[in-house]
Amino acid sequence: MNLKGRHLLTLLDYSPEEILYLLDLADELKAEYRKYGGHPNRKPLKKSLGMMFEKTSTRTRVSFETGIWELGGQPLFLSFRDTQLVGTGETPADTAKVLSRYLGGIMARVYKHETLTALAEHATIPVINGLCNLYHPCQILADLQTIREHKKKLKGLKLVYVGDGNNVCHSLMIGCTKVGMNVTVVCPDDYKPNEEITKKVQALAQKYDTKLEITNDIPSGVKDADVVYTDTWVSMGDEAQKEIRLKAFKGFTVDAKLMSYAKPDAIFMHCLPAHRGYEVADEVIDSKQSVVFDEAENRKHAQKAVMLSLMSD
Ligand code: CP
Ligand code: NVA
Repeated sequence: MNLKGRHLLTLLDYSPEEILYLLDLADELKAEYRKYGGHPNRKPLKKSLGMMFEKTSTRTRVSFETGIWELGGQPLFLSFRDTQLVGTGETPADTAKVLSRYLGGIMARVYKHETLTALAEHATIPVINGLCNLYHPCQILADLQTIREHKKKLKGLKLVYVGDGNNVCHSLMIGCTKVGMNVTVVCPDDYKPNEEITKKVQALAQKYDTKLEITNDIPSGVKDADVVYTDTWVSMGDEAQKEIRLKAFKGFTVDAKLMSYAKPDAIFMHCLPAHRGYEVADEVIDSKQSVVFDEAENRKHAQKAVMLSLMSD
């Protein structure tokens, strides 16, 4: 599979075969890393990855930074605040053209998806979305890797996302549908996923013979779930609506009662950071059903697969 030079802005741009190829490579890289503590039998990826952050991060920063280093390349952390994008208002287009002269790839975490598309349009190197207002594709590659590890398959599984119809929810809807999983989003009526993305995923669900359901009813929505997934009710950028959101999401906490509607062997997932007592109760995130730390670890393996595939010569 040749993915050289491609951007990764959203999984909408990737076919099921390409997604599965990345997951297989992520598994191989994980096994190699476990065995050798590195990748001694692979040609090193002698490239630098510029990591641009407009928002805070723990997992994305550390997993990309250690991941590129383990592949033989070098990370370069660039806080937006300290670049001329903010300093003197240099455009994303000029920034992308300049960075393309120095780097082998750009990973960017931004507020607006349009910042990423502007970077990608003008960069001559791959641009990887490290989270924006609409999508979080790298998270979902790690999630699918984690689900397959625990469930030994993807096709036919039911994933139930409980909470805010946000960036993580959108990417899950897209990624899961493409690999043959059924997705149910359980959310308050005012916090449904983006309509345009929902329409696209409905079309994908038809194409790949899977189901997308959106409901506000917890017991029927969670029924028969193989995977229960949640994320924060207040995403980065939504802080001003915090009080309103905390009220609107009351009753949507993933607790033991909610998990009891799922299959007894269902796994619990969360992209993290978690807000314990809000979107998830301790009794669930700390339970045997929870795979959140495997999920966090897999960010690194999945992103190494992405960097190797997109940035290799
Ligand atoms: N899940 C995730 O993207 O975590 P960070 O915000 O810590 O990068
Ligand atoms: N939906 C969250 C995900 C954090 C990893 C946010 O955008 O803040």
